[in-house]
Amino acid sequence: MGYLLGIDLGTSGAKAVLFDRDGEMIAGHTEGYRLYQPRNGWAEQDPEDWWRAVSSAIRSVLSHSRVHPEEIRGIGLSGQMHGVVMLDQDGAVLRRAIIWCDGRTQEQCDQITETLGEERLIEITANPALPGFSAGKILWVRQWETELYQKCRHILLPKDYIRYRLTGAFATEVSDASGTNLFDVPERCWSKAVLEALEIRPDLLPRMHESTDITGTVTALAAGETGLAKGTPVVGGAGDNAAAAVGTGTVTEGTAFTTIGTSGVVFSHSKQPRIDRKGRIHTFCAAVPGEWDVMSCTLAAGLSLQWLRDQLYGGAGGQPDGDAYAQMMREAMRSPIGANKLLFLPYLMGERSPILDADARGAFVGLSNIHTRKDLIRAVMEGITYSQRQCLDVFRELGIPIRTMMMCGGGAASPFWQQMLADVYGCPVSTVSSKEGAALGAALLAGVGVGMWPSVEEACSHVLHVKGERHPDQEASMAYEPYYQLYCTLYPALQQTYRTLADL
Ligand code: XUL
Repeated sequence: MGYLLGIDLGTSGAKAVLFDRDGEMIAGHTEGYRLYQPRNGWAEQDPEDWWRAVSSAIRSVLSHSRVHPEEIRGIGLSGQMHGVVMLDQDGAVLRRAIIWCDGRTQEQCDQITETLGEERLIEITANPALPGFSAGKILWVRQWETELYQKCRHILLPKDYIRYRLTGAFATEVSDASGTNLFDVPERCWSKAVLEALEIRPDLLPRMHESTDITGTVTALAAGETGLAKGTPVVGGAGDNAAAAVGTGTVTEGTAFTTIGTSGVVFSHSKQPRIDRKGRIHTFCAAVPGEWDVMSCTLAAGLSLQWLRDQLYGGAGGQPDGDAYAQMMREAMRSPIGANKLLFLPYLMGERSPILDADARGAFVGLSNIHTRKDLIRAVMEGITYSQRQCLDVFRELGIPIRTMMMCGGGAASPFWQQMLADVYGCPVSTVSSKEGAALGAALLAGVGVGMWPSVEEACSHVLHVKGERHPDQEASMAYEPYYQLYCTLYPALQQTYRTLADL
């Protein structure tokens, strides 16, 4: 019997999950860490916290299973994308990582666009210069922390820092590299042209792999820190969404999913690199070798509900997470569609898809004396759902084929939310047998890498089963529609206000 370990480095915590070769979870453990927000719109995490959490999650998983470390055939990594980890010549971390939802780099992104020209940049990197992506962050550090930048010898993405701690290798893979604005997405390699234009030395960047390649093996040092067996292979893995695609079987043309996690993602697999010339949604390399995906990312989906939970229920301290969310769902169900005429814009961290505006902020519109907690909760859930629909509408406008829609992430645990998504999308939405999305996807990539399955598609069809399809309720769909249409008018109406507010 061989086992596989999937590690998912999320924003709120790191998860290690051990699977058997049928994709059944044997043991899993999540260990949390801090998000630092030194200024409004900034977001940083400490890579040392990540490693502490990952190594402790692995130790916990090993101690809660009867699996011997030698029986783990391979390890796959998945994680939050776009973050920048800088290391000196000894591999020591130089500063906290600036992570995906940080919005400080608009000025650097403007410089990148000006230097390369928007059209050329999108042609090469398949995406516009985005404050969330890595390149702007690298330029920001170079501009504002010049001395520190001069000491930098290695730049890694978040999960690749974990790879470095596990294997000593400076390596990455195509799906995560796609979110750096430094990568030639159609050609699947670092872009010489972009690096030269931005004067970023190529030797700062890690070696490139496909997601199923073996990138290194666990060192004696890492074995000591985690309890893993020295020599266990670690494959490329994938950025969290590309890994979740594997973990939900979104690996063939026309399959799609929506994640309501901290961020909100609509994701669809594609055989070709399909690029939105307006830059509203992203095109990345898929974890399936030689294929691509298209995805949108809103920055504060689950994060908006978490914010509300913290304000209404005094944070996770008051009661365990699950209980608070279950209570919130029960309350929201008592408010009608439209939340008694209350709308919510979920731009708590600025926004990326399909609205690109780091200055955008959240808003309740229509707040009245009659509203109670249940309406606030429902309005936040509906606002998050409308923001996903607005992204899906871009896929529809571009003619990207979507035959099946899955729901995953924390939001998928709520049948009420799944139904809301089906009603607002106007199409059936199903869930998948395993809840472990990204961690499972990473583990399956490891399985393919060590030869347990011949391809990612075969790994998925061996392990995954679709379940619980919910169809849209025509009446509910019609009831949501005018609220959705109104929602779409709010950002244009507030855009200038956001700018002025940011400049005050
Ligand atoms: C994708 C993105 C997020 C992060 C964190 O572009 O920014 O999904 O990977 O989950």
